[in-house]
Amino acid sequence: MSTNVSKIVEFQQENRTFAEKLIIFMKTVLSGIRPTGNLHLGNYYGAMVNFLKMQEENKCYFFIADWHSLTTHPDPKMLHVNVKNILSEYLACGLDPEKATIYIQSDIPEIAELYLLLNMQAYLGELEKTVSFKDKARQNPDNVNAGLLTYPVLMATDILVHNADYVPVGKDQEQHLEMTRNYAARFNHRYGVNYFKQPTAFVSDQKLVKIPGLDGSGKMGKSEGNAIYLIDEPKTIEKKVKSALTDNGPEGQNTPKPEYIENLFTLLHVVSTPEVVAYYDNLWNTGETKWYGNLKKQLAEDIIKATTPIRERINDIKNNDAYLHKVTTEGAEKARESARKTLREVREIMGFKAF
Ligand code: TRP
Repeated sequence: MSTNVSKIVEFQQENRTFAEKLIIFMKTVLSGIRPTGNLHLGNYYGAMVNFLKMQEENKCYFFIADWHSLTTHPDPKMLHVNVKNILSEYLACGLDPEKATIYIQSDIPEIAELYLLLNMQAYLGELEKTVSFKDKARQNPDNVNAGLLTYPVLMATDILVHNADYVPVGKDQEQHLEMTRNYAARFNHRYGVNYFKQPTAFVSDQKLVKIPGLDGSGKMGKSEGNAIYLIDEPKTIEKKVKSALTDNGPEGQNTPKPEYIENLFTLLHVVSTPEVVAYYDNLWNTGETKWYGNLKKQLAEDIIKATTPIRERINDIKNNDAYLHKVTTEGAEKARESARKTLREVREIMGFKAF
């Protein structure tokens, strides 16, 4: 049965409420994050703000990809702490377990089973050519394990296990999405079905700014060491902003801004009012100098204003084990319901039958 026909059949079932019927036709959005490090302003304004909007209008799955983090053999104690951190940060930002399905990958054993099945659609030659694999293998030649090689298969599984339509990801993940589409198509072709959808990478809205780092160029990133974290204390934020690269000021009226100054303005755009941005823009255009100190003070203040409520919620949630337990068990239950259905159908397509 094609996906649409089966949806109409589901829709017509009398025992469903109207709300349940609407969900059947919603698009499925899915995204995962590896539990390494903390969320920074780039993650928040570049991705999270988007997730918050999407959870209002779509069927969303957001999860912590803890199996994916195993390629680097994390210390068991740290693994748990990192999962807890990211989960608390997700929730503190406003991801809502009532609206989205929020879960931990390793709570869903069906993912491991589908991963095994999809591995048969993945060929060594392509896996070895994956950019992320080649990079990691070059960086750590002593740890080129099979899990690293098949990382894209596990990611494809995450996506296909819920037959997601849209996958919000960073640019660096687009190749993995391409591979996911290949595995889905190969599976469909091999078994003569139209079962898995072709998921689309959703590289975020053009209107959403790319948040720059504070060291002059590039984007804010964990590994770049130029990030302001949501959990940073006001003092830390002040120090980081103060140390951002500047120069002696504009060299005349209405000159173009160099990238590192443009970056400060980009951040200001995100956290300050339009009046504040206009005020400093005007100062730049008059060619005046000696106001960077004030700009930085204002920027730090506004970043602190934006992040303080989030930081406080992160700390509350981290100390609320009962809440975290509830969110993860209920999330796993919802995610498993969808994953079980997929596995039931995939097993049948592949010829696994009970005696
Ligand atoms: N590989 C992604 C990253 O490193 C994380 C991830 C794992 C993911 N599974 C996913 C993202 C599924 C989107 C969909 O950022």
